[in-house]
Amino acid sequence: MNAPTPQGLGLNPPSFVKNAKLIAWVAEMVALCKPDHVVWCDGSDQEYAQLCDLLVQAGTFKKLNPVKRPNSFLALSDPNDVARVEDRTFICSKDKNGAGPTNNWVDPDEMRKTLHPLFDGSMKGRTMYVVPFSMGPLGSPIAHIGVELSDSAYVAVNMRIMTRMGRAVYDVLGADGEFVPCIHTVGAPLQAGQKDSTWPCNTTKYIVHYPETREIWSFGSGYGGNALLGKKCFALRIASNMGRDEGWLAEHMLILGVTSPNGKKYHVAAAFPSACGKTNFAMLIPPKGFDGWSVTTIGDDIAWIKPGADGKLYAINPEAGYFGVAPGTNTLTNPNCMSSLGKDVIFTNVALTDDGDVWWEGMGQAPEHCIDWQGKPWSPSIAKETGAKAAHPNARFTVAATNNPAIDPAWDDPKGVAIDAFIFGGRRSNTVPLVTEARNWVEGVYMAATMGSETTAAATGAQGVVRRDPFAMLPFTGYNMSDYFQHWLNMGESIAKKGATLPKIYTTNWFQKGSDGKFVWPGYGENMRVLKWIIDRIENNAKGQEHAFGVSPSYEEINWTGLEFSSDVFSQITKIDPSDWKSELNLHKELFSQLSYHLPSELAQVQTQLATRLGLV
Ligand code: GTP
Ligand code: SPV
Ligand code: MN
Repeated sequence: MNAPTPQGLGLNPPSFVKNAKLIAWVAEMVALCKPDHVVWCDGSDQEYAQLCDLLVQAGTFKKLNPVKRPNSFLALSDPNDVARVEDRTFICSKDKNGAGPTNNWVDPDEMRKTLHPLFDGSMKGRTMYVVPFSMGPLGSPIAHIGVELSDSAYVAVNMRIMTRMGRAVYDVLGADGEFVPCIHTVGAPLQAGQKDSTWPCNTTKYIVHYPETREIWSFGSGYGGNALLGKKCFALRIASNMGRDEGWLAEHMLILGVTSPNGKKYHVAAAFPSACGKTNFAMLIPPKGFDGWSVTTIGDDIAWIKPGADGKLYAINPEAGYFGVAPGTNTLTNPNCMSSLGKDVIFTNVALTDDGDVWWEGMGQAPEHCIDWQGKPWSPSIAKETGAKAAHPNARFTVAATNNPAIDPAWDDPKGVAIDAFIFGGRRSNTVPLVTEARNWVEGVYMAATMGSETTAAATGAQGVVRRDPFAMLPFTGYNMSDYFQHWLNMGESIAKKGATLPKIYTTNWFQKGSDGKFVWPGYGENMRVLKWIIDRIENNAKGQEHAFGVSPSYEEINWTGLEFSSDVFSQITKIDPSDWKSELNLHKELFSQLSYHLPSELAQVQTQLATRLGLV
């Protein structure tokens, strides 16, 4: 049986939709995609409940045990649709140099010709949901509105958690407000009487951005950043273009507040590549030895950062929920996250236990038996034999930010929070020290620009391969990477001109491994020890030790109360090894030759200084 559709309101918009451009665009997209029904979402609790019921009836959702996980659901995706598809993601600027060498580029006219036949009739047999959303607090001067048209009810309910979605957005839009049009189809039209799959998708996928006209077209996937278009497509790729034009920053960063025992509060924005620790760092609970310290979450994945009248940089989290990595999350490593997941959660690609709850690798004691993410029986002995994972490594939860017990009181403040420090952190099993401070803004931009990280399950393709991931934005900068570096340099210069203090810039690496293949640094809550050193530096309370790459802490400058960590091991993960750094510098050089078009000359100068300090010139 095909999925029943809710009462479609049809082409005629409800009376509360007044935006002429929106009404005309929906009509145009309906004519192209030919859905059977159109539903104008109002974002109400009732609508959410109805859509979840519908997804249960369609077999896409399994309702979890209401005693163990109230109002929560599990979706299992198609095995060919489990992560972002970077090789199918396109920036279709008019000029190829507009996209630059790190993005896939196709001429926009050519791409439109390719997409048109794919979208034509793509929603047959399905319902088109009109999903109006605000990235950022509704009506805030830093917020922006998008409307996603999607033939996936799964997308509609996820967007309701991840963004401010619903009727109030139509009100803010009014008759002539601007919005970013985002069209999404799973690319699996249904013939009359054809049985639907529980996770419809297409082997052909296109995630397309037109930066000049600020449009997003997504075909063939229902998963995460491919399909929840407010997230990476809008809030990073399109918004980075807006930010360049308008003088602000759209970044792949968590935002946290950290309060010292004497009540002084600092705000830190930190960019780590996908599945490299943002959600975990944003929810950090200070360990033993940090009595009176607290950390609160403003955002866990994306930051929009704008200069205020006082010259300082103010950050908002444009999202309203977390689409976080499940594997590795447990009550020891991230208790705040685990308590966020108690109710009202959508899980995707985790395992289903026999008592109707969820499980994933790294959650704790494995169940004797469960159903894995592919719907197959799983047990520890099967896993031993076949290596099968119960949860997909990129399995995720979708949950409202308000479920987080450590949510910052200002997380929803339209003004944003003033940033005191930026951190850029990669996943590197060697070479890069635990923490390094840049001596100035330009050196910080260099560190961020040349950052390397091992690839993770958040994107399809090879895993665990070190690649350059400038600013943790390699897959998300919606224009030429060298121009993006220049934009960061320009922002620094304009803040300095206004006489405001520039945030200090740091690079971290929680992920060095020992000869036993295990992580040397305990990570998670223990990262507070590094965060505290960063604050000490801001307050001029730590001298640090200068080396070729920047300034790192001496052993004595870290508070070790409650953790046994020897100075020998500490020097192992803070040292600059000359031969490792010789290879590292070659990788920086390779990146810069790839990015030579428009590469800011200041960055090339920092590279020469680094080479000189390393004794390599
Ligand atoms: P995206 O949502 O993909 O952008 O990822 P993220 O940066 O928010 O990553 P997240 O915090 O979800 O962490 C991803 C994985 O890294 C999880 O399996 C975590 O358990 C693990 N992880 C996070 N922080 C640390 C850390 O400090 N040390 C170690 N060893 N692992 C960590
Ligand atoms: C990431 O890959 O960085 C994510 C998950 O945050 S997704 O929304 O799928 O992009
Ligand atoms: Mn992310």
